[in-house]
Amino acid sequence: MCGIIGYIGSKQAIPVLLDGLKKLEYRGYDSSGVGIVCSSTHKLDLRKMHGKIHNLEKLIKDKPVGQSSVGISHTRWATHGAPNKVNAHPHFDCSKKILVVHNGIIENYEDLKRTLIQKGHKFVSETDTEVISHLIEQNYNGDIFEAVKKGIRHLRGAFALGVICSDDPEKLVAARVGSPLIVGIGNGENFIASDVPAIIDKTKKIIYLKDGEIATITRQEVLVHTFAGKQVKPKVNIVKFDVDAVKKQGYAHFMLKEIHEQPEVLAKIIKERIHGNRISLDGLKLTEKQLKAFKNIYIVACGTAYHAGLVGKYVIEKLASIPVSVDAASEFRYRDPIIDNKTLIIAISQSGETADTLAAVREARSKGAKIISICNVVGSSLSRDSDGILYTHAGPEIGVASTKAYIAQIAMLYLLALKLSSHTDKISERARLEIIKELKTIPSLYKDILKTKGLISKIAKKNSHFGCFLFLGRNINYPSALEGALKLKEISYIPAEGYAAGEMKHGPIALIDEYRAVVCIAVQSPTYEKMISNIQEIRARKGKIIAIATQGDQTIKKHSNHVVYVPRTLDLLTPLLVALPLQLFAYYVSVGLGCDVDQPRNLAKSVTVE
Ligand code: G6P
Repeated sequence: MCGIIGYIGSKQAIPVLLDGLKKLEYRGYDSSGVGIVCSSTHKLDLRKMHGKIHNLEKLIKDKPVGQSSVGISHTRWATHGAPNKVNAHPHFDCSKKILVVHNGIIENYEDLKRTLIQKGHKFVSETDTEVISHLIEQNYNGDIFEAVKKGIRHLRGAFALGVICSDDPEKLVAARVGSPLIVGIGNGENFIASDVPAIIDKTKKIIYLKDGEIATITRQEVLVHTFAGKQVKPKVNIVKFDVDAVKKQGYAHFMLKEIHEQPEVLAKIIKERIHGNRISLDGLKLTEKQLKAFKNIYIVACGTAYHAGLVGKYVIEKLASIPVSVDAASEFRYRDPIIDNKTLIIAISQSGETADTLAAVREARSKGAKIISICNVVGSSLSRDSDGILYTHAGPEIGVASTKAYIAQIAMLYLLALKLSSHTDKISERARLEIIKELKTIPSLYKDILKTKGLISKIAKKNSHFGCFLFLGRNINYPSALEGALKLKEISYIPAEGYAAGEMKHGPIALIDEYRAVVCIAVQSPTYEKMISNIQEIRARKGKIIAIATQGDQTIKKHSNHVVYVPRTLDLLTPLLVALPLQLFAYYVSVGLGCDVDQPRNLAKSVTVE
């Protein structure tokens, strides 16, 4: 979603800001803009453009701004008003003394706008953000910090703000509620940004602003206050972040790079979390006694993380016999879930900033549940809102379509299920040890799957003309089918539906004819034969079959147009394997169709609005 970067230092602001904006592109956006304080006149100036950042760069080249070492900039993912030049950020007040960039949504903007118009303010855009500029102007009395502090008291919703003012040209003001914002501490220069990758090549010293905090930033100093005006001493974190991790490193796309990182990601989790046969879940912050006491579990998550949660349900129920419900976080708090202090909530989120997931967690907490999170981004809002946190440490995921984060989330759920299983007698110790042993082999099996990418690329090429895809799986690979379909639609824009294969006869079979392709997850499992029957039903109606099967299965060839093999493993662990061919298939279809793989249209990496 929207991205913010602000700079104050001694360098020219424009190149710093444009570079930061490019690093935020992965979040998803449809217009961009920069605002600067001109060094000689102290006047504010801005350039805004629809579309990609190179459009903005071209505009700045054709119509340069004055010299400046102070500025704010923004990539906008449109919510209120079309993605055009006028609605792009930053936004001026009437006097053109104040410029604002904003992430989030102001829920009461219509009321505020009406009142501000009555007071004589003139609006030019359709955005909710513009009310913030005018509110600050309305409260401005010569001190921009005070004006921001007073102005934002009227806002309802979520916001991360960057503000500059021509009367106070040596200062950035930043504030947040609900949307992430960091301050980067440099040497004689400082930054604000919506996340770490935007500034990681400039500084590793980061302050994560908390909700309800406002920062004033000069070249030499960062002062943080609460909205009530109390000064606080912020914690400066040194982020362990490899700059190369946010580069493509020779891969054509981040998504392809991230697919290839999966053996390493899983191996790291196993190394960090499995010691001999003992599972270590440091960060969980729950005693064995507390773990034993939970009577039910809710998993809340969105998108790909939701699908990881569905795999988790199968695994936890199978291994630990605790009832698990999985909810799309956006629905969870509206359905009045039955929660008490015997309920465990597992929130799953790559970014830890997904607004719906955060809202679900807050709802559950208010009802007395304990919250643990599975999260990739260290220091995220979710990590702060949880009682315990299991970091996946998968490294930055830049491709909008989640791949390595999904594998890491599933891996964590296996480990959690194994841990919980030791408190019940649902499975024997021997079975537990066998699962642990087999889990340790999965990273090496990935190498075999990645070798099939040439074949998958050919299959993708042959089938990408189909206007609609069905993905079928059964039992623990039903969520894999949902995830396979999601990957394809996200990056190729081809309608794709994931279904439990047994449900096919209750609707989707009506779609099947010679113009449909069906991806069937038919790995060896107790439901294999039933899956073969489903495949035959599709073949009888002339549908094309792309099967994901277990190495050595010759029978499947008779029933399929194409087969991609994955190595043999325990049935329970197959979601860890089948994810890879599904990701690669979506990837190659998208490439073949010339789509923007890493930044698919309309999507955002981190959805920070509800
Ligand atoms: C967006 C992304 C998805 C992601 C979902 C949840 O929709 O495009 O790839 O799965 O958000 O994100 P989270 O950061 O909470 O895992």
